[in-house]
Amino acid sequence: MNTTDTARVAAAKEALKYVKSNYVIGVGTGSTAMIFLRELRNAISGGIISDVLLVPTSTETEIEIVNLGLAGLLRYPWQVDHIDVAVDGADEADRAKNLVKGGGAALTREKIIDYWAREFIVIIDEAKLVDKIPMKHPIPIEVLPFAWTIVKRRLEEEFRGKVELRFGSGKRGPIVTDNGNYILDYTPGTDIDPVIVEREIKGIPGVVEVGVFNGKKVSRLIIGKTDGSTIIL
Ligand code: A5P
Repeated sequence: MNTTDTARVAAAKEALKYVKSNYVIGVGTGSTAMIFLRELRNAISGGIISDVLLVPTSTETEIEIVNLGLAGLLRYPWQVDHIDVAVDGADEADRAKNLVKGGGAALTREKIIDYWAREFIVIIDEAKLVDKIPMKHPIPIEVLPFAWTIVKRRLEEEFRGKVELRFGSGKRGPIVTDNGNYILDYTPGTDIDPVIVEREIKGIPGVVEVGVFNGKKVSRLIIGKTDGSTIIL
């Protein structure tokens, strides 16, 4: 296991302490969330946690839940009336717990589940803690395909900075999200106020969701360190 994995496993194990039997659990997307899911599976098969339901935030997570033999616990949002706890990763986080998410293009379903949860727990390795967001990653914005050039132009003209339509590997043309939309990656030209940017970009017609998550929605930010310890903000 490399040091990043050590840090992510440490954060995932710590997050497991906030999961109890009978909980409805929102399961995030990405490599760190998948580590948490495997830890959760081990706790379930070891009889430590029982009678939970799992609500995935992406197709990736849904497939992994099934692959881990947990298909019977899988539920969609319309099948549950609440989420007790959501555990998710992030691309970067600041000390006020504001996040950039959507590196895996799952930001919309993540935000729906994560913001809905009674407790929203974020797990990252220490390399993702930054002084202010966005530092190393652009802000992903999910847009209706019909509107992508209109939203791109408005972002460039009114918000300044650089906007790129996301292309991926394994497919020609733009990547298509789980919701059938495109992703614009926006790199602001100046420092941003995450709360204002989240609200104002969300207000542009054609924008489905913005990959800035408000720190006030995050109950705990668990930072795994390469020595296997954790810090909780
Ligand atoms: C998915 O769209 C993202 O929001 C993920 O939560 C984020 O990219 C973190 O993924 P890793 O844990 O793989 O870095």
